Amino acid sequence: MVRIVEVGPRDGLQNEKPPLSTDSKAEFVARLSDAGLREIEVTSFVSPKWVPQLGDADRLWPMLPAGPEYSALVPNTTGLQRAVALGVKRIAVFTAASDAFTLKNINMTVSDSLAAFAEVVSAFRGLVTDGWVRGYVSTAFECPYAGPVDPGTTSQVVAHLIALGVDEVSLGDTIGVATPPEVRRLASVLDVPYSRIAWHFHDTRGTALANVQAALDLGYRAFDSSAGGLGGCPYAPGAGGNLATDDLAYLLEREGEVTGIDRLKLAEASLPVLEALGRPPSSKAQLALLACR
Ligand code: HMG
Ligand code: MG
Repeated sequence: MVRIVEVGPRDGLQNEKPPLSTDSKAEFVARLSDAGLREIEVTSFVSPKWVPQLGDADRLWPMLPAGPEYSALVPNTTGLQRAVALGVKRIAVFTAASDAFTLKNINMTVSDSLAAFAEVVSAFRGLVTDGWVRGYVSTAFECPYAGPVDPGTTSQVVAHLIALGVDEVSLGDTIGVATPPEVRRLASVLDVPYSRIAWHFHDTRGTALANVQAALDLGYRAFDSSAGGLGGCPYAPGAGGNLATDDLAYLLEREGEVTGIDRLKLAEASLPVLEALGRPPSSKAQLALLACR
């Protein structure tokens, strides 16, 4: 079975300027749930000064419909307190393989962030015994400020996150530059079981699905994606376009994987959000399906 981690409500919206109402975010999540997505990253308990669009996380969380497993980004103990007070059981901490990126994204070096996250994860484990933690490594291939990243550097950050107690590491091609040979090169130096790795590709240059296929061929079974290809990172210029869940679900379905996703409902789920943001749909699988409605 291949896991799809839907990150649209978080990664898809965090970078968008037009404020979206909390009601429309809750509606978006409900539509994703109805379409069959079982793991959804819905928001971030980060500083609202840094990411204003997700400043309503505390109001959104209690509005989520029962069904999927929900997760949220937590950058520090302030964020952890907010999340735990709401009963959040799945959190994600987020660092990178480049100091230049983490300094812009979370105002810390990679090493400082790992020390801070060790505290966050340990506090979370003490408070939520059945909790689950993901660790992101952004700029796993290349940093928008410092250039190409050595696979060995990324692998070290992955190992550090696993050692500090995360359940899974998601490897972010933050600016969407990676190609299949680079995926294989990075995978070849990872010293972690396949089951503890997820891949988070951005489709900035149209290589995301090819990268998914490369990772699938190596035996990896977890991928992040965003309905309608919404998204990007506020501290990664040019990082528009997460891999669209619509494209990922199509590929997996045609390969005989049971995704549990109703692709038409999925194609329609992101439409109100895209419209509110003034963005036309860009996922090819989504457009093809909508054209045949
Ligand atoms: P800072 O300014 O260094 O922190 O930010 P601070 O401790 O000095 O706090 C500044 C103010 O924020 C204070 O308020 C704090 O109370 C408040 P003031 O006293 O000025 O009124 N504050 C908070 N408020 C609410 N919740 C909190 C919180 N923390 C502090 N949790 C900080 C450091 C980490 C907080 C900040 O940099 C931050 O929030 N960054 C988040 C950036 C972000 O969300 N980036 C996008 C996610 S990463 C990504 O997209 C990549 C990924 O998709 C994978 C990939 O594609 O590569 C995951
Ligand atoms: Mg991302």
